[in-house]
Amino acid sequence: TILTLDFGITRRLRELNVFSEMLPCTQKISELDFTPKGIILSGGPYSVYDAGSPHVDPAIFDLNVPILGICYGMQELAYRASPDNVIAGTHREYGHATLKPQVINSHVDRLFQGLEEPMQVWMSHGDKLAKLPEAFHTVATSDNSEYAAIAHGTKPIYGIQFHPEVTHTPNGTKLLENFAVGICGATQTWTMSTFKDQEIERIRKLVGEKGQVLGAVSGGVDSTVAAKLMKEAIGSRFWAVLVNNGVMRLNECEQVEKDLSEHLGINLIVVDASQQFLDGLKGIEDPEKKRKFIGGKFIDIFEAEAKKIEDAAANSDKAGKIQFFLQGTLYPDVIESLSFKGPSATIKTHHNVGGLPERMTNGQGLSLIEPLRILYKDEVRQLGRALGIPEQLVMRHPFPGPGIAVRIIGEVTPEKVEIARRADNIFISEIRKAGLYDQISQAFAALDPSRAVGVMGDKRVYGYIIILRAVTTTDFMTAEAFEFPWKFLQRVTNRIINEIDGVCRVTYDVTSKPPGTIEMD
Ligand code: XMP
Repeated sequence: TILTLDFGITRRLRELNVFSEMLPCTQKISELDFTPKGIILSGGPYSVYDAGSPHVDPAIFDLNVPILGICYGMQELAYRASPDNVIAGTHREYGHATLKPQVINSHVDRLFQGLEEPMQVWMSHGDKLAKLPEAFHTVATSDNSEYAAIAHGTKPIYGIQFHPEVTHTPNGTKLLENFAVGICGATQTWTMSTFKDQEIERIRKLVGEKGQVLGAVSGGVDSTVAAKLMKEAIGSRFWAVLVNNGVMRLNECEQVEKDLSEHLGINLIVVDASQQFLDGLKGIEDPEKKRKFIGGKFIDIFEAEAKKIEDAAANSDKAGKIQFFLQGTLYPDVIESLSFKGPSATIKTHHNVGGLPERMTNGQGLSLIEPLRILYKDEVRQLGRALGIPEQLVMRHPFPGPGIAVRIIGEVTPEKVEIARRADNIFISEIRKAGLYDQISQAFAALDPSRAVGVMGDKRVYGYIIILRAVTTTDFMTAEAFEFPWKFLQRVTNRIINEIDGVCRVTYDVTSKPPGTIEMD
């Protein structure tokens, strides 16, 4: 394990199959439950000498493991040695720079071993070193940075002013590999297949011989992978609950049931509450109210089901009480809640599905079990593959909890749900047929309830407007509309108009996010 104190290097290391954990830079070393092979202090938007800036625990130096300070991390190393080693830069250095290495000795060379010279790097900093900390040497300079890279004369402690983790530093990953593998001696064995085996062992120990676990599933990637992992660990002592909320896609509930229960062998309970949801949605026009209603109703139904399962479990001598609640939390949520936000900012707790974990853990006294909490989304997909989950499920686009309800502008009625659902089905199946599904991050059809005029035969007709939306994104915070071939859009439009009564226009939404959002309502 390489311990990374704060911000985005972890990704790059994991791509090198080196396991890396990211913790806040203020982490107390005495509270670590593992011994890292090395420590990376990464960048951050602070000034080391500002009151309230985060500082590392000086105990990192007592671990006697290699340390690499990057940008703010390097300034922190220098500041730790003596505060007057760092000064505020008179101007920010931002952009490409060329490194001029100054080779000192073989121990220092190892960081830059095999990298092209001169090396192109990316700089982004305001403060800089005023002078070298005691016992350090300059290893590289750039036009604007006298101390672009520094190293301790005898100990494996390094500082670099540039950012190796960004694509603008083409050899950055190789430099990180030199540090993690070459200098720290980390092994490159972090794969989802080994993670799977370790995690199954951990879950078995945690849950014990008789303990039972409950979790909600939706057919989405995260809940499916988490559920399959639980199934592999404790078999039928894991209970998955799928609630049909009446706003799922065409035949989706049946399909998810088949996938999870028949194909993946998960102990699944399906609750058909579609009528209750559709009745309750009547007359609600406000998008937030729709979300609130669906979220709240979901919790009520899930809780009632959990109670039934618990009662049955209590009367069975085969298994013990339900003690755990499964939650598919991913690493980005964990990081968001851990990150150091300064003394005045409140630390954000990671968002969860409409308060469900809160109600299950505090209300029902269950403990949370979060097997995906150290994984990024693409790692969850790899884990899914390692668990034998079919590619079509592993690569599924995300689908919101409130489903088609947030894809119908305004009031949701069974008629509109049916139309939106069928249009969506045509759109998605054409996307699959054209081999475009995996190039798109999320796609769907939405319904605009305004009536537009059209002619069919020789009659004027009024019908709903279907809005097609397809976006590409990596983080769902920003997104671009996908560029379909014109012929493709014409084909989908013709099919929707011809096959679905009550629709007389089809449009394609080319708005990016921002200013648009991905969903429609
Ligand atoms: P927006 O529309 O905010 O969507 O650009 C970003 C991502 O979040 C999903 N989304 C939701 N997921 N409940 C969910 O579970 C919701 O209320 C919700 N609203 C948006 C959306 O599908 C996209 O992936």
